[in-house]
Amino acid sequence: MATTAPFDIVFFGGTGDLALRKLLPALYQAHRTGTLHEDGRIFALGRQPIGLDGYLQLLEDRVKARLGVNFDDASWATFLGRVRFHPLEANNAPDYTTLAQALGQDDTRITVCYLATAPQLFTTICQNLANVGLNHANVRVVLEKPLGHDLESSNAINAAVGRSFTENQIYRIDHYLGKESVQNLMAIRFGNTLFEPLWRREWIDNVQITIAESLGVEERGEFYDKTGALRDMLQNHLLQLLCIVAMEPPASLAEDAVRDEKLKVLKSLKPFTTEDVLTKTVRGQYRNGAINGMPVAGYRDEPNVAPDSNTETFVALQAEVSNWRWADVPFFLRTGKRMQERVAEIVINFREVPHKVFPSPMGLHSANRLVIHLQPKESVRLYFLAKEPGDAMNLQSTYLNLDFHTMFKARWADAYERLLLDVIRGRLALFMRRDELAQAWSWVEPILECWSQQASTPKSYTAGSWGPAASSGLLSRAGVVWHEET
Ligand code: BG6
Repeated sequence: MATTAPFDIVFFGGTGDLALRKLLPALYQAHRTGTLHEDGRIFALGRQPIGLDGYLQLLEDRVKARLGVNFDDASWATFLGRVRFHPLEANNAPDYTTLAQALGQDDTRITVCYLATAPQLFTTICQNLANVGLNHANVRVVLEKPLGHDLESSNAINAAVGRSFTENQIYRIDHYLGKESVQNLMAIRFGNTLFEPLWRREWIDNVQITIAESLGVEERGEFYDKTGALRDMLQNHLLQLLCIVAMEPPASLAEDAVRDEKLKVLKSLKPFTTEDVLTKTVRGQYRNGAINGMPVAGYRDEPNVAPDSNTETFVALQAEVSNWRWADVPFFLRTGKRMQERVAEIVINFREVPHKVFPSPMGLHSANRLVIHLQPKESVRLYFLAKEPGDAMNLQSTYLNLDFHTMFKARWADAYERLLLDVIRGRLALFMRRDELAQAWSWVEPILECWSQQASTPKSYTAGSWGPAASSGLLSRAGVVWHEET
């Protein structure tokens, strides 16, 4: 891969979990593979005055261990040579003057300010950056999700950030868009003639999108208890996947060509009425159970979670894209923590053949099905019927399998590596535009409102299961079941 231009990348929240778990390891891989310009500096900012030595020690302790086989001592030493540490209190204006001095006030240099902080600080940080001139045309600001708590707070943040930076300087991250497998979804849809003629209501019966995690809320109880699965996963990651499945072929891969098409999908999502929320959404919360045979606590017993919390750790819903291509095709979305296994997949269920000439044994799933596994094992499976060898005309469900790791031996870049490089290179296509984000919030808003007004509580499900029984009920009312791998 070609190297980037010279750059400075500044991490607000440089000592935080995201920086140490994802961002620094991603930059190290880009460095190790020679993709970063040699004149590229990394500024980590933190409130505690730990100094460069203290920070480098943190990288030794917390980052190095994560790098596994993709590590070598020589490149680690040169990587550390790029790192600087700068103490900064987000609300303290003079700290930004010293930051600007440390950066050297060079308007021709690409400067990426990555805000890996609580969203409440976004406005202050952007304002302070602008006050010291760190909003010139070569500055790019990266905003981590969640961008707000609802439509109003998200609009307020966007408006405030928009007073300091122009829209094309703002990179709103949804790390799912940086995943190799999600990129592949675009390739499958728009690089092949095979699927496009079938990719519509005439041939597709329903679509299922699942992001299941076996992990619980880990150390993030305080954040998660105020957030819940709808805001944490569905409003962003799941809706972005839905957009890529449902969008019209873009005229090009130019950033606005793709983002315009995604926005059209979001605008076509049928708004939920109160009645829809009651009948077409399921919220759940895990109780204690077991994951891989190991007992795990229930959500209400997790650290920093209220013992009477009604926050959902699971959501399933039935969406409808009201346009000519998709009218009446249900899109079932589901996500949850502490589910049986970690899996993210998109399932396209085609319609049955119009006239069956073969006897169909009980339980045989006869319609074609395309299953795109996004993680952990990236693959595409096309299920179809074939005849069993022998006298009788017995059909069996079988599949063609494309396993990406067998097919492509190259190292797969982590989502954050790709996205950080895209920011340095000024590529906006994989980042959410302001209108997309607002549209996604306004679609989930009626659900949030209805849930907050309802006296009912989330349905309980056992940790290590596939969620509450009502999630299967949601599909069975439409005559379908969640896809399970055979
Ligand atoms: C994040 C959510 O955006 O995505 C987390 O805040 C979640 O709660 C994570 O665990 C899942 O990402 P991935 O890439 O591990 O599927």
